Amino acid sequence: MKRLLVVTGVLVAAPQLGCERDVSQPNLEYAPDMYGSVPYDSFAPNPNTRDGKTLMAPAQGSIPRGYSPLHYGPGPQEASRAAVDLKNPFEASEPVLARGKVAFNRYCSHCHGSGGLGDGLVAARFPRPPSLLAEHAQGLADGQLFHIITHGQGLMPAHGSQVAQEDRWKIVHYIRSLQSPARTAQKGTP
Ligand code: HEC
Repeated sequence: MKRLLVVTGVLVAAPQLGCERDVSQPNLEYAPDMYGSVPYDSFAPNPNTRDGKTLMAPAQGSIPRGYSPLHYGPGPQEASRAAVDLKNPFEASEPVLARGKVAFNRYCSHCHGSGGLGDGLVAARFPRPPSLLAEHAQGLADGQLFHIITHGQGLMPAHGSQVAQEDRWKIVHYIRSLQSPARTAQKGTP
């Protein structure tokens, strides 16, 4: 009888002990190397580097690989400056236009529509953008189109941080290719 009481007592106490475990502390750790990093973490302090950081700050004046600085701020005046100074560094070759199309469909078509007419899905709820085939957009220089994509204009948000510089130029060629049938029609040629 006594033994039965002890066994019952243990059976009742054991789960309770289990419940009082402190969940804010690590308990049994199995193979801690699997989840605790052995090397220094990227953002952890580090006594071995000159600035005390594991991921050291790049030397002053460093330029990321493939990056070319752009010396134009936002605003219409800067856009006009870009219109005069900047030239599209790419030829309108087939692969350039193909990439421009992919990037345009990805980053612009939801507002501007895949044909550039300003009839994208977002345009139903957002102020409708002007047609990129209209005379006004046709009259914008390549550098200005590039500037508008980079810094935005009026209600249009800036896309410089999302669309790679090369892709922005390729989009400019693609917009021209969308415009060219309209241009031809305007000149009265078939
Ligand atoms: C969130 C919707 C939206 C997105 C995304 C967007 N635009 Fe726009 N875009 C607009 C609106 C709205 C305007 C009119 C801006 C204004 O002047 O107020 C505009 C204006 C423009 C203009 C000037 C047209 C003119 O005749 O003045 C160009 C060029 C242009 N966008 C190109 C692009 C390109 C290229 C992309 C993709 C990289 C893009 N936009 C992405 C909404 C958008």
